[in-house]
Amino acid sequence: MTATTGPDGAPKRRVFSGVQPTGKLHIGNYVGALAVWAREQHRFDSLFCVVDLHALTVPEAVDPGGLRAKVREVAALYVAAGVDPDRSTIFVQSEVPAHSELAWLLTCTTPLGWLQRMTQFKAKSGRLGSVGTGLLCYPVLQAADILLYETDLVPVGEDQRQHVELARDVALRFNSLFGEVFVPPEAMIRSGGARVMGLDDPTAKMSKSTGERAPGHSVGLLDPPAVARKAIMGARTDSGREFRYDEATPGVRNLIELYEALGGAESRDALAERLDREGKGYGHLKAEVAERVEATLAPIREAYARIVADPAYLDGILARGAERARDLAAPVLRRAQRAAGVGT
Ligand code: TYM
Repeated sequence: MTATTGPDGAPKRRVFSGVQPTGKLHIGNYVGALAVWAREQHRFDSLFCVVDLHALTVPEAVDPGGLRAKVREVAALYVAAGVDPDRSTIFVQSEVPAHSELAWLLTCTTPLGWLQRMTQFKAKSGRLGSVGTGLLCYPVLQAADILLYETDLVPVGEDQRQHVELARDVALRFNSLFGEVFVPPEAMIRSGGARVMGLDDPTAKMSKSTGERAPGHSVGLLDPPAVARKAIMGARTDSGREFRYDEATPGVRNLIELYEALGGAESRDALAERLDREGKGYGHLKAEVAERVEATLAPIREAYARIVADPAYLDGILARGAERARDLAAPVLRRAQRAAGVGT
């Protein structure tokens, strides 16, 4: 059972977040999002969603036959990464129609200019030959996801900060037009590890879609140990012997941040001092990062194998999750519809 009150009987604050089920989930998704969800779930009433409707915003990249399998893979990875389905609610976005219904109401109150200014829209639309309207409206659907559950905090990586801030602006604008309907949310972003960079190019964010195409770009959460190790040992660091974070090259900084984010007591300063003292090179830093990555991924891989071996277990989690999500979303949608003058 999901506990919705804390030990003092006060309601727990609400957390909502999600992953788009496209491409290859990587260590950046884990560090920036999943690890934070798992770590913080005891303190909050959390909902974690697999946002399959968002995957449709680049229809050319979607294989309709493969999307359902990808949705299940991502949901299983939530659990494998430590999200406890008895504590947190895990569900699939398209199973709760209120997301699409609220998205329309919010689309009508969101100025076009706000959406055209979104960094991710500009980057993605610049790369595509044809841009669907869904890509422009992507952050409005994301705002609907968040606002439907009266969310206080949204744990995400740095790249999603702008979208969460937009969700807040969308809530405030709707409230100012129609009355106090929505809770304005805030992003929850860790200080180190919120933007893991590509191993092959430390000037570009590690990305699910690039990871699928370029083997040395990312470490996938389900990569076999030898593949993960090869990607890290091949990481671009440029030449040098500097381990101090502020002085190091972007590639070395990325490895140091990853090392730190994956735990252990040693801080980045202590690591730099030790490697300097030991007279080690960048190859040694990579080997230590590879070890920490393997220590993180081995239990995730094992848990994932157990979960997918029992499809009924995952079916149960998603059915219970969708039911609770529908129950929570219905009154908020109704309130928004009434405020805007539609529905019964
Ligand atoms: P998505 O699927 O691109 O990424 C999932 C989560 O992983 C984080 N992330 C990273 N963190 C650190 N380093 C990286 N290189 C890195 N790449 C990705 C993302 O910030 C995210 O937290 N639009 C969202 C999905 C979404 C959502 C929502 C999130 C839809 N509705 C409502 C929160 C709340 C997205 O595409 O994330």
